[in-house]
Amino acid sequence: MLNDKFVALGVTGSIAAYKSVELVRLLKKAGARVQVIMTKSACEFVKPLTFQVVSQNSVITDMFREPSFWEVEHVALADKADIFLVAPATANIIAKIAAGIADDMLTSTLLATKAKIIVIPAMNVNMYENPITQRNIKSLRTNGITVFEPEEGELACGYTGKGRFPEPRDILEQLNIVLGKDGDFKNKKLLITAGPTREPIDPVRFITNHSSGKMGYALAEKAIHRGADVILISGPTNLDPPLGLYKYISIETAEEMFRAVMEYYLEADVIIKSAAVADFSPKHRESEKIKKQGFNMNIKLNKNPDILQELGNRKKQQILIGFAAETSNATTNAQDKMKRKNLDFIVLNDLTQEGAGFAGDTNIVRILHKDGRIEELPKMLKKELADEILNRVYLYLQQNRTF
Ligand code: CTP
Repeated sequence: MLNDKFVALGVTGSIAAYKSVELVRLLKKAGARVQVIMTKSACEFVKPLTFQVVSQNSVITDMFREPSFWEVEHVALADKADIFLVAPATANIIAKIAAGIADDMLTSTLLATKAKIIVIPAMNVNMYENPITQRNIKSLRTNGITVFEPEEGELACGYTGKGRFPEPRDILEQLNIVLGKDGDFKNKKLLITAGPTREPIDPVRFITNHSSGKMGYALAEKAIHRGADVILISGPTNLDPPLGLYKYISIETAEEMFRAVMEYYLEADVIIKSAAVADFSPKHRESEKIKKQGFNMNIKLNKNPDILQELGNRKKQQILIGFAAETSNATTNAQDKMKRKNLDFIVLNDLTQEGAGFAGDTNIVRILHKDGRIEELPKMLKKELADEILNRVYLYLQQNRTF
């Protein structure tokens, strides 16, 4: 969403100004071009040179200084910006925007721009909660400006409460959500399952597999950034659920995943079953820890419900995507699974290849389509692969609409 975008970033006089330096770094990393505009008081907290270095661009601090090139005068900058951030935003700048004041470079440019404006407040809790500030924030929102909620916690002023500037990495994620709202998955609901399931033997032991959940979480995050409503049903992982989920359901066993999927699948347009569901579970879950002494070394297993098979049997309009992790006869096995489970396509991990599979950040897959097409994808990051998978889901959604 930020790639190749021209981002104007207004920095105002808050101690949180130093955090915006990291924000600029992340924006640049995401492919954006960044033009920083600092108010006079922002310059008291951080030197313009710092922003100049991280943004690899000149920093605008003074409306009346001779511009180094004419393009940067305020109206031109207002026109050029795709996105206009004010971060951190003090109570003062929020009040000025609400009142339409244009008495410096930042406020003049803000008043002239037609870009999407996003304001990220940072201030003392009492200033934030003051009815005047709240009225001003409401006025900004009524005028189509997005105002992020500040975080709660310890504030630089020594108070505790709402007013903290969010961590730059969380801001970036929220930006992707806001900017993705009108993306190609707008008004589409995706149900995604992720991670392993865990089948208890006794209170301390369980059967599971190596799934990290990274692929499913990457799919959920990218789908949110493309405007989808995402229901993520996840087994135990070490990952934080992405921001902006429609619903997050945490489960442990295959049986629990089965029940959660059956509860929600009817409202989904697309179901992606990237979870590595355990195929078997112990027949009896012992209520006490099994002792070595006297244990007969046998655990009887039951077959778990095949969730994807059940979805394939019930499938109507939905796009249904499965994953296959194979160690031999990969393509034939995956093709067989795709047909048996009535899928639109299947993403095949050949676990014998280095860089493919469960724990890492990369994957190498083949995508097998129901019409017989086979696509061989190069090794890529799971986040990149998530977008590749979603691109194909999008095409299937378009076909469903046409016919
Ligand atoms: N799957 C599922 N429920 C199960 C087992 C698997 O929904 N009980 C789904 C997985 O989420 C994945 C796909 O089925 O999308 C393929 O999983 P896999 O275990 O490889 O397939 P199986 O049909 O179980 O085949 P096998 O174990 O024989 O390889």
